[in-house]
Amino acid sequence: MKTLLLTVDNCVNNSEIYSQAVDYLNRGELVAFPTETVYGLGAVATDESAIRKIFEAKDRPSDNPLIVHIGNVEEIPTYIEYIPEVAKKCMEKFWPGPLTIVMKAKDGVVAPSVTAGLNTVGIRMPDHPVALTLLRTLKKPLAAPSANRSGKPSPTKAFHVKEDMDGRIPCIIDGGTTGIGLESTVLDVTTETPVILRPGGVTKEMLEEVIGRVAQPTLQEQKEEKTPKAPGMKYTHYAPEAPVYLIDDSTNLYEAIARLQAEGHTVALLAPDGYEQCGANYFFTLGDENEQQQMGVYLYDALRACDKTDATIILARATYKKGVGVAIMNRLEKAAGDKWYNNKK
Ligand code: TXA
Ligand code: MG
Repeated sequence: MKTLLLTVDNCVNNSEIYSQAVDYLNRGELVAFPTETVYGLGAVATDESAIRKIFEAKDRPSDNPLIVHIGNVEEIPTYIEYIPEVAKKCMEKFWPGPLTIVMKAKDGVVAPSVTAGLNTVGIRMPDHPVALTLLRTLKKPLAAPSANRSGKPSPTKAFHVKEDMDGRIPCIIDGGTTGIGLESTVLDVTTETPVILRPGGVTKEMLEEVIGRVAQPTLQEQKEEKTPKAPGMKYTHYAPEAPVYLIDDSTNLYEAIARLQAEGHTVALLAPDGYEQCGANYFFTLGDENEQQQMGVYLYDALRACDKTDATIILARATYKKGVGVAIMNRLEKAAGDKWYNNKK
């Protein structure tokens, strides 16, 4: 299959691009498109055979449900049995935006593979002009996971999607680099206290200001649950080819890098600005540590860049778990499979 790259340009009328993409979707094909978080791989959410193509293209385990994207809030009652008050408040405050709300699904409306057998469905309205125009032209909901091969870092640029999906999908809409760079916060509102299943750009603090107490289990706590509520959290993710080790502030980076090199390693370092001179063979910046939003934007690009090197080990400097830092550390812990340099020997 040939993969067509359609570039949306602000200076011209793009209606032909949208109608081409909508044609693919209506024919049961997949289209990758930008959102404000990461690129998504979309298919019409009510078309079971199209949804199955998403799982095939990504090599995604079939028990990992997909997020449904909508262009108008009026669509929600079609898919959701009952919209809790907290959900309404969140929609009003954070939509369009990087918040997925998991609610009880109406039976038999979205394709069965979207919910992967759960009785809930995660819905969000993306805050990106291309995603919104696509959804509003299509006039149907799009189920869309991140447009990477399973296990790889999510794509924040159209060429990342091409790297993973070339020849596997018919169409990618290139709308430039995505804004936030980390996937949406996933909030489950089906429990008495809403639970953050995946941290993201909408932080616990931001949510609590609007809806009161919110639970945020750590990765470890989620793993210990017998039936994890966010099935995706149990899989390895965001991982480059070489092993990733987290390294904290208390460890001298120069010494750690020199020791690894003496053992024969070629070392790539992912760290905020200011760590360029630590002697690593490759340095990929995560930006200014005091600007965590910016670190989110750099993260996946930096993880992917490691695969373009001959590094045999990747050190990722840990950041503090506050605000968006919680989401950054969640992704880094998963990329590292929770390996810490400090415990390496
Ligand atoms: O920002 C985003 O959310 C991006 C863009 C494309 O919208 N999408 C995305 O989708 O990250 P994906 O499939 O890569 O991640 C979806 C996460 C998974 O961890 C999945 O397990 C969880 O959301 N999820 C989806 N539906 C769920 C449900 N009904 N209950 C619990 N978790 C759910
Ligand atoms: Mg993903």
